[in-house]
Amino acid sequence: MYILGIETSCDETAASIIKVDRKTGKIVVLSNIISSQIEIHQKYGGVVPEVAAREHVLNILPVIDEALSKAKINQKNINLIAVTKGPGLITSLMTGMETVRTLAFAWDKPVIEVNHIEGHIYSNFINPESKINFPSLILTVSGGHTNLILMDKNRKIKIIGETLDDAAGEAFDKGAKMMNLGYPGGPIVSKYAAQYQQKHSNIPTSNIQLPRPMLNAANFNFSFSGLKTALLYQLQKDDNWTSRTDEYCFEYQQAIIDVLVGKTIKAAQKTGAKTVMLSGGVSANTELRVCLKNAVTQKLSKVNFLVPKHEYTTDNAAMIATAGFFTYLKHKTTNFSKLKVDPSLQLK
Ligand code: KG4
Ligand code: ZN
Repeated sequence: MYILGIETSCDETAASIIKVDRKTGKIVVLSNIISSQIEIHQKYGGVVPEVAAREHVLNILPVIDEALSKAKINQKNINLIAVTKGPGLITSLMTGMETVRTLAFAWDKPVIEVNHIEGHIYSNFINPESKINFPSLILTVSGGHTNLILMDKNRKIKIIGETLDDAAGEAFDKGAKMMNLGYPGGPIVSKYAAQYQQKHSNIPTSNIQLPRPMLNAANFNFSFSGLKTALLYQLQKDDNWTSRTDEYCFEYQQAIIDVLVGKTIKAAQKTGAKTVMLSGGVSANTELRVCLKNAVTQKLSKVNFLVPKHEYTTDNAAMIATAGFFTYLKHKTTNFSKLKVDPSLQLK
């Protein structure tokens, strides 16, 4: 079965072709094309929705063409189109959806609508390094979301924890903005943090102390806005902060990681999860990948840890095609006339 995935929920225009063995669920990614608008939005310090939508309009057809030619298949071979329904920016989502509506009509193909967060979850189902055992616990951390999700053997999902304010990626982006480091903040903060770690090898600690919000709260929710404010106050008190940017980045990143890892381990213990997975744009963070993997190995017995390959961490369409396949096994396709975006689509 060949699936064309389309993703335009934020500032990446993406198309992918995957080949799925319907019996085994084995997935081969034949192409995964991403046209990123990061450089365009960098000068504004964040994504400008109107600009993003216009760029999607320009990029979507060339990106789909490239996905088809790289996969060396003709549109006639496609069995299903999977498209992001939401959540995301309404005008960005609409570009992808209207393109899919036209293609579904012109090519006469069935369409499955996909929740973007489920896309991130299913990025772990693309050639996993080890078996996925259920119940699985998935920490999904992106620019817009921070969720702890439990998935049962029927792949039914339940949110057991979420952020009460900023998402983890948003915390990285806002922290970087305060330190005038540019956009998106995650990769930049992690680069400075790694520099600090290299200079202070073994177990680096920092003289800067930031809080670990809600780490010991009796639930699995997160809150990052207080951490951001704590960073702001520290910077205001320190006349010399610009000479210690690497140390601030190290402590700020570590505070975010400590909370994410601590809560995930507690949730895994409480729920009896057999596999722990990490996903979303923030899962590109090397230190988070290492810390969570180590914690799972040291603190949970007989639990395996999975994380997507780097190319499937930030927004991409291979994850949408993959989630599309698993959604298709349980749900009906949507007629092209009924396709509709939902910018605040909830996980069910
Ligand atoms: O999943 P994603 O591409 O888009 C959303 O669905 O939101 O995630 C983007 C987020 C941004 O906030 C970005 O700063 C963060 O992922 N991110 C990182 C890293 N790479 C991207 N955060 C921490 N470390 C990274 N290496
Ligand atoms: Zn995303």
